[in-house]
Parts: sequence; structure tokens; C-alpha cells
Amino acid sequence: MNDVDEVKSRLDIVDVIGGYVPLKQAGHSFKGLSPFKSEKTPSFIVSPDKNIWHDFSSGKGGDVITFVMEMEGLSFPEALEMLAKRAGVKLKPRSKNTDETSSKNNLFEANDRAMAYYHLALSKNTEAKDYFLKTRRLSTEIIKKFKLGYSPDTWEGLTNYLKSKGFDKKGLIEAGLCARSTRGDGAYDLFRGRVMFPVFDMQNRVVGFSARVLGGEKVAKYINTPQTPIYNKSFAIYGLSQSKEAIRANDRVVVVEGNMDVLALHNAGFENVVACSGTALTELQVRQLSRLTKNITLCFDGDEAGISATLRAIELAGNSDAKVDVIALRGAKDPDELLSKGKDAWNKAVKSAKYAPDFVIYYGKQKYDTNSAPGKKQFTRFIMPMLRNLSDDIEIQHYVKKVAQIVDSTEESIKKLLSSDDQRPLLANSTVTDAEPQASARKLSLQEKQEQELLELCLAYPVTLPALKDIKLSQTTELHRNIFKSLKKYVGKDFASLIKQLPKEANYVKILSLRGEQQYADVSAHDIRLEAFTQVARIQETNRQNLKRSLTKQIAEAEEAGDMQKSKQLLIQYQELLNEE
Ligand code: CTP
Ligand code: MN
Repeated sequence: MNDVDEVKSRLDIVDVIGGYVPLKQAGHSFKGLSPFKSEKTPSFIVSPDKNIWHDFSSGKGGDVITFVMEMEGLSFPEALEMLAKRAGVKLKPRSKNTDETSSKNNLFEANDRAMAYYHLALSKNTEAKDYFLKTRRLSTEIIKKFKLGYSPDTWEGLTNYLKSKGFDKKGLIEAGLCARSTRGDGAYDLFRGRVMFPVFDMQNRVVGFSARVLGGEKVAKYINTPQTPIYNKSFAIYGLSQSKEAIRANDRVVVVEGNMDVLALHNAGFENVVACSGTALTELQVRQLSRLTKNITLCFDGDEAGISATLRAIELAGNSDAKVDVIALRGAKDPDELLSKGKDAWNKAVKSAKYAPDFVIYYGKQKYDTNSAPGKKQFTRFIMPMLRNLSDDIEIQHYVKKVAQIVDSTEESIKKLLSSDDQRPLLANSTVTDAEPQASARKLSLQEKQEQELLELCLAYPVTLPALKDIKLSQTTELHRNIFKSLKKYVGKDFASLIKQLPKEANYVKILSLRGEQQYADVSAHDIRLEAFTQVARIQETNRQNLKRSLTKQIAEAEEAGDMQKSKQLLIQYQELLNEE
């Protein structure tokens, strides 16, 4: 039996799913309320005989592993790992790289011990406790929920403690908990005299820490775990592990800048909130979030840096299928400060959230004088990348009209600008430019975009190529079919020979691979492989949805034309597609 079957056979599907959704027996199966859609009559069914679940209200269904993927927002290998642990199955290593996995486990363990050490130290330090409870007005529940801590102001407290637990100096330095002393060959604690915020991954493992000075700001206010094999700041999302249930329940995530904003909001009962921790929101973060919800609300600080981070995030999310809203803060520098005025202030801010394109227009109007000629020109240039990023015809119409009104021009001239060759994005450089004429001349479809992301990854990192086995060439878009074809056959490690096979696409391929290299520079081979598998699954899903849509249309057309034979045939195809799900 393979690992997947072994895990599935050892677990009771009713037991696992029952841990998330209250279930009641109904004949041979079990019923409950859909965890994906709010409903009053139960339409979520689990069948222990068939070992599957199906949710009639959302149309989702699958086995115990897909359920955990959905609920926890995990990729397939991650969900398998989690369930294997529960089933007591030891997974066969998925790669040759068992050393990598075991050394990572060692880092997770060191971090976990460190978290416990800091958490205990907090309970013993009045100043630090007062900081959280009095200065920041957090509850003890929040301190527990986020496992907040304190790093004592000593040089070797943590180092000695972890050494006594069997960790060696090298491992502690690798985990980013200690630094090498410049004199002698000792190591000392990296975090000293600071309040500690552990950062968890989706699987609730501690990957790193953020640490803040108590009060005064003479030194760096925050310091963070440096890049380690398990901590990558463009991947980590503060608060995700504590917020994911609320994110799914609300079908919305609010993204803020600061850890303290996350804590203050949770403290006030708003629990679908995470932080990108002061860096700009990254593509990797958006991708993780969009597994839990397609609705993202950005609420960054109101300063210049916050606004440019907002604009960049909007553009970035434009390449995903998420819908973005923006809360523009007024009268407070960040959500934490706003909340000190009471929960209503926050509720009001949430109500005032603007759909991203409206926010860009609102901000542009403030920034430029749209009554003067130069101001009109600047405003239009500023707004253009946003307009180009829209993919829905109705929306494009709506905003073309709006922009034309603002600058007192015609819709035709705005449309002309929109289709002009100047594709240079103004906010960030995240769209392919003139490399592939076909790609730059128009807006890419969702599947094309998803394929583009996968190709970036595969072209830059050959370790991901096995994931392509599951992609059928006939299901790829024309734009990328040749590249997929060559990649699927591609065994050598020589990039130049691949390029030779693709003379027409050479430039495009080079740019994609470069983008892949840059985006994933900090990510471990293990995570890169996982990412490739996740992306392949996503493309397959998009493809299925597209096929369904096109079949529905063809069926309606056949029926209209009175061709019952054809409509029946198409219906059978449609049914087959549903059965595959
Ligand atoms: N940050 C960081 N390094 C810094 C400053 C900030 O990593 N030197 C990150 C932290 O994760 C912080 C976030 O950026 O939570 C937002 O920074 P800032 O707005 O300066 O912090 P506040 O949330 O306002 O912090 P506080 O309320 O604790 O003063
Ligand atoms: Mn703050």
C-alpha cells in the first residue's frame, strides 16, 4: 500500500471531519452544515463506506486529505504530512533529501523550545508582563493564544538552556536563535531584553520570532529572525495560524502591517487579521492567503510608505484571482491606534473600505490636481496600470467612463491610451513586457497567468519538473503549450539546449526563468517543490472550471438550435467532468 492509501485507511473520515464540523448520523452517512457556505439545512455529507465527503451547497468534495487541505489551507503534501502524524504513519521520504528534512525538524524543535522558554520568562518578568497587559492593553488570553514571550536580558540564558536540552551551537545559530561570538568560538542569545512574538506557519510550527524593545526606541525597535532554512520573511505571515479559522468563516482576510495591529484586533474580537510584518505584501503571501479566501482587505499604515505598499499589493493581487478592498485610515496612524478609540471606530473603518480600483482613483485624485492639464496627465498615467489590470469588460467600461469624467475627456481617448503600446507598469514591475508579443498585447486569462507562474518556477528550478507529469498538453493554453511540451521532455540540466528548442519563445522563456529565480531565491528546495505541485493542482482546477463553462454554453446553444442529439452528448461530457471532481 502506498503512503496515501495507508494514511486514509488508518483514519476514520467521520472522526477527522467531525473534529471540524459537527456531524449527525443519517442512514449510512453523516450530515452537517457546510463549512464552506453558511446555510440552515445541512447539505454537507460524509460517507464512511465510500470514504469521501461532498458538500452540496458549494459543490466541493473529495477524500479526507482534500478536506484537510481545504480547511487548513494546506497543499497536498502538507495535509498528508499532518494526517500521517495523526494516523501514526511514517511517510517514506518524498525526495532523496532526508537530511534536509531531519535538519529542518531539528530547527522546528529548537524554535519550539525557545518559544516555551520565552513564554515562561514572560510570566516571571513584571515589566514585560505590564508592557503587554497595561501599556498595550492586551488580555491574558491573547498572550496565551499568540504564545507571546520575553527574552531575558542575559547573554547566554537561552543558549545554555537549549544546550542543556541537547541542541548544539551550530543548530542554534542555524535556527537564528543565537549568534556566533566574535571572540572565542562561543555563541550568545540573539534576542535579549525584548518582548517576543513567535511566528507560526500554516501547520502551527514556530518558524521564527519577531522581537520588540520594551518602550524606549534607542535601538532598533523590532528585530527579526534572519533568513533560515525554515524562516523566509517573504513567505511568513504573522498571525495566520491563529486566524485561519476566522478567515475562512468570514470568507475575508484583513492584512495589516504590524504584529501589534494583529494582536490589538484579535484582542477586540476581530480575528480574521494577519500582518505582512512591515515588508510589502509578497506574491507568496498572497498565494497562501488566497487558498483560504479570495477576499482581501488591506489596511496598512496611513503614511507614505503604507500607501505605496498598498498600491504595490493591489497590483500584485491583480495577478491573482483575489478581490482586494482597501481601508484608508483616517485619524490614526495604524489599526492599533484606531482601536484605542473603541471597537466602533474599527467597524466604521471596515464599512468605509473601498474596492481597490476605487481606492486607486480616490488616492490619485487627492495626489494630483485634476483641474490642471499637467495634473490630468499625471493622474491618467498614475491610474493606467490599474485600468490595464482589470479583466472584466463591464468593470473596464465602468472605470474608463469614470476616469474620462474625472479628467473631463472622452472615453475614446482613455481607451486609446489603454490599448497603446506603453505597457510599462508604473507601480511595480510585475508584468511581462515586450518579451512575448502575444502576451503583452492583451490581458492574460486566469489560466495563462497561472501557467506563467508555474513556468517561472519550473524554468528556474528543475527540481520542480516532476510536477509537470500531471499537466496534459491538450489542457494547456496555446500561449504556453510549446514551452510545456519542451519542458516535459526536458531531462538534461542544460538551460541553453532548452532555449534552442524554443527559438520563437526564447526571450520570453529567459525572462520567466529570471523572474522565477528572483521570486523564489529565498525559498528552500523542499518548499519550491511543494509550491509546484500546488500550482499544478490549481491550473487543473481552473481548466476544469473553464471546460465546464464552455460546455454549459455549448449545451444552451445546442438546445436553442433544437439539436437534442448534440445536447445529450455534451451533457454526458459535463457529467463526466463532474464525476472527476
Ligand atoms: N518592523 C520590523 N523592523 C523594524 C520596524 C518594523 O520588522 N525595524 C515590522 C514589525 O513586524 C512591525 C511592523 O514592521 O510589526 C510595523 O512596523 P511599525 O509600524 O514601525 O510598528 P508598529 O506596529 O507601529 O509597532 P508598535 O505599535 O509596536 O510601536
Ligand atoms: Mn503600531
